[in-house]
Formats: sequence, C-alpha cells, structure tokens
Amino acid sequence: MKGMQKNLTSYADPEFSRFLRRTFLASAGYDGEDLERPIVGIADTSSDYNPCHRDMPALAEAVKRGVLEGGALPLVFPTCSLHEILMSPTTMLYRNLLALETEELIRSQPMDAVVLLGGCDKTVPAQLMAAATADVPAVSLVTGPMRTGSWHGERLGACTDCRRLWARHRAGQLDGNQMAEVETRLCSTAGTCMVMGTASTMACMAEALGMALSGSATPPSGSGDRLRTAVHTGRVAARLAVNPVKPSDVLTPPAFRNALTVLLALGGSTNAVIHLLAIARRAGVRLTLDDLAEVSGKVPLLVDLKPSGTGYMEDFHAAGGMPALLKVLKPLLDVSTRTVQGTRLADLLSSTPQPDSRQAVVRTLESPLGPAGALVVLRGTLAPGGAILKRSAATSSLMVHEGPATVFESPDDAAERVDDPGLGITPDHVLVLRNAGPRAAGMPEAGSLPIPRYLAERGVRDMVRISDGRMSGTSFGTVVLHAAPEAAAGGPLALVRDGDRIRLDVPAGRIDLLVDDHELALRRREWTPPPRPERGWRRLHSEHVLQADCGCDLDFC
Ligand code: FES
Repeated sequence: MKGMQKNLTSYADPEFSRFLRRTFLASAGYDGEDLERPIVGIADTSSDYNPCHRDMPALAEAVKRGVLEGGALPLVFPTCSLHEILMSPTTMLYRNLLALETEELIRSQPMDAVVLLGGCDKTVPAQLMAAATADVPAVSLVTGPMRTGSWHGERLGACTDCRRLWARHRAGQLDGNQMAEVETRLCSTAGTCMVMGTASTMACMAEALGMALSGSATPPSGSGDRLRTAVHTGRVAARLAVNPVKPSDVLTPPAFRNALTVLLALGGSTNAVIHLLAIARRAGVRLTLDDLAEVSGKVPLLVDLKPSGTGYMEDFHAAGGMPALLKVLKPLLDVSTRTVQGTRLADLLSSTPQPDSRQAVVRTLESPLGPAGALVVLRGTLAPGGAILKRSAATSSLMVHEGPATVFESPDDAAERVDDPGLGITPDHVLVLRNAGPRAAGMPEAGSLPIPRYLAERGVRDMVRISDGRMSGTSFGTVVLHAAPEAAAGGPLALVRDGDRIRLDVPAGRIDLLVDDHELALRRREWTPPPRPERGWRRLHSEHVLQADCGCDLDFC
C-alpha cells in the first residue's frame, strides 16, 4: 500500500476507512489528485522551548517545496522537542521518549518516506533510532549551527566559550557585569551550538552514516545554503517515497565503522558514542566499545574545531564541510556504503574536490592536527564495562595519574559541596561523581564537575574526574565518563570511599580502584541500590534503560 492507502485506521471495513480519510482531508483542502500522490511526512521538532530550532518553520517550508517539486505530498507532523538547556534534569532522560514517539508516528500514519527535522543534541539520534526501527525511507535534516558572536574583539560561540568564560568567572577573573555582556554574545543567531559539540557531531554522524544529504551537516542555520539543502532534501525524500532506499539499506556495519572513523577525525562528542551504539542496536548491527577502541588507534584528529581545536562550524563549512573531510579520510573508509541519495559513498567522493590547500580547518592524514586516539576507551576495576575519555580535550600531563578520591553521591551533592574548602581537595585528588548514570538520574551532563572554586582561584584548570554520567560535547577536561556498570546498577563506582587511591593510565587504557577485593566484598554487602522513581516515564525508563556501553536504549526496543 502507498500514500493515503497506507496504515488505514482500523474499522474492520477498509473502504469505510478510505472514505473517512478522504472526507476529513477534503476539509483541509486536499482533492483526489493530491491524495493519489506518495506522501512524505516531515517530523517537526520546533518549539518555543527550543531556541536552537527557532528557524525550523522556514526549513519545513523549504522541505515542503522540494517534496512538491518532486511530485509527492508533504505533511508536517509535530513531535516533542528536546532542548539541552531548557529541560530538567537532562534531555538524555527523554531521548528514548522522542525515539519511541517518532517511531510510532512513522509507523501509524500514512507515510512513504519521512524527513526528520532535528538539530539540538538528542533530537538527531532519537530520530535516527526511530528511523532504524520503523525502516521507512528517511532523511535526516538538521537546523544547522549558529554563527559566532563577538565580545570586545574576541570571537565567541556556544558552548565551549560558555564553559571557559564561566570558569574564569568562578576564578574571579570576570565580574557579573562582564558576564551580563557575554550572555548576549554567546548565542548570536538561531541554530545549534557551533563548536564540535554533540549537535554538530550528530549532524556529521548522520551525514557519515549516509542518512543525510552530502554536505548537509554544516551550512549555518538560516543561510541560503541551509535552505537550499532543505529543498534538495525534500526532492530526495519525494524520490525515496517512490523508489525506496530504506534505513536498513544504509545503516550497515561498514556505515557505522565509517561513522566512528569520522567521529575520531572530528574530535567529536563523547555523547556520540552512546548514540551510535543505540542506533546500531536498533539497526541490528553489532557495534561495541571494542570497535571504537580499534578505530581510535588508527584515526588522527583532522578537524580544527573547539573544544579540541580553535575553529567553529562556519569555518568547517567554509573549508568544504563533511565532503572535504570524507575526501581526506577516503583511505580509511569503506566507500561501498549506500546513502539516502541512492548513490554509493564512492560516487559522492568521486565528484568531491580535495580540500583547498589555503584552508587550515580540515587537515590531511599526512599532517594531522593531533595524534590518533581523540576518544579513548578505558576499562579496569572501576569500569569493567568500559568508560570513555576525550583525550583531545584533556590535559596531557594527567594522562597517567594516581590520587586519592573525593566522592560525591549525586550531582546535587556535588553542587552543594564541591566548593567547600573543608573537603581538603588538592589538584592531585580524583573527583568521583556517582549516581549520575542512566538508571539513577537519566545520565545528566554532570560528569565534568567544576574545579573547586578555591583551586580555580589558584589557577588550577583541570583535574581528573570520573563518573557514570556524561559531559557536554563542548566541554574540556580530563574527565572519565560513562563508567559502566553505573553505581545504581551495582557497578564498582558505588563502592569508592573518600581517600581510596584511583589510578588513571590512558596509554594502558586503564581506570582502576586500588582497593583489595576482600575490602570491596565487605563494602558490597553493605551497599543498597538507590530508590527508583515512583511512577510514569521516569519509572519506566529507570526499569528498562540499558547501560552506557549498550547505548542507553530501552531494553524492549
Ligand atoms: Fe541546542 Fe547546544 S543547546 S545544540
């Protein structure tokens, strides 16, 4: 079944269902000619609660024009929207809710193809998870990054600079008046954070996987390039509605390997690791942290964007964007993968020029920005299921470090006590945050605990931190994240006590708690899991969410 005939409402009388459908759509101005067309759904995540998506209505109009030009009927449908800064406790708690909702709306409404309008961090992975499961032809289209602002001649962008300037404020170097000025400069246009944070990384992942059009990840929000990409996306979706290329044709094992390769070359967000694991699981592709570890050792850092480098997404776009990077990475990619454009990656790259030698954002394999291993997988007695460290955004002198633990029981506990001089924290301490994992807290970006104020004022910029939570893709620091299993699931993080020695050895890929097994067994007998939420989505999520090394999807999805 195609178009309006698809997914009929069940009245045990299909002719009556069609009659009713025609009747109600006639009231919306659709005639017989419209209703014979294939249908392209457009999943719209615009919301007043999502400033990153405030240009999305114009984007949806551009997609509709492309769909109509392609001969199909565009129908926009809203889904929930997730904005990083306006949701509590964290959007990660709701990524799976958006994935479930989007999947069900694709499955239950008449739709031959779908355009997924996303952008802000969790929206893109949620939509790709939904597409992988629904397996209806789908194209991802992001709102695009913000452009940079400026403050007293300094170029600023969300949110690496948000964090950097906030750290200077905490250290007493910027006063309240200066911060009030900064507030109006960090997010100067519509769009997503314009560093290589999670939103930018996931836009690039969608393109690397072949689920978005070539060159679609980087055009700034509201730009002509962005709007033309939207029209083109609409035309491609109309074509897919007639000649399907399904997510299952695109989301193959080599496509995920390519995505990991790109992730490493970008110095992309640690969050992308969780999202790729979740999308792969939905696509029936076996992807593990071992795959990341293997790819990590081979791929150098090639793209000079914050937080690992110095530039912003508009610079990456001007330098040729993802096609330029894929061209450079070609020797390390499987170019036989298919894309939603119906071509092989090899075909796309054959018409892509080498990056202009005058630009310095996209480097070559012969002259990379940084060594291989921008993201490192760690294992050890403190994270038997694995943990992640973003080496490209960490301090090299802390790559091998041993120190005493200071333990915080939760993000709230850390917020309350981290600045207390009575804790006696020194730069050698290892700050431990537990109960910030997917089951306990929905996995907030609390892992990059602030440097205690009294140390920040003395000029301490980084310390080793470890947690079962996440950190923003825009963050900097020697922060061990996603420790699995999390404390609330009985992981060893639950057993750490103040003063225990912890050893980080990045070259060896280890994170260890230096406490003997007998003592740990005694502590385990005393441990009780934290209480679960009482009801609703939070209860369902807590009971069914998988650990970070499995992508934090729900176990029944
Ligand atoms: Fe939306 Fe950063 S807050 S992308």
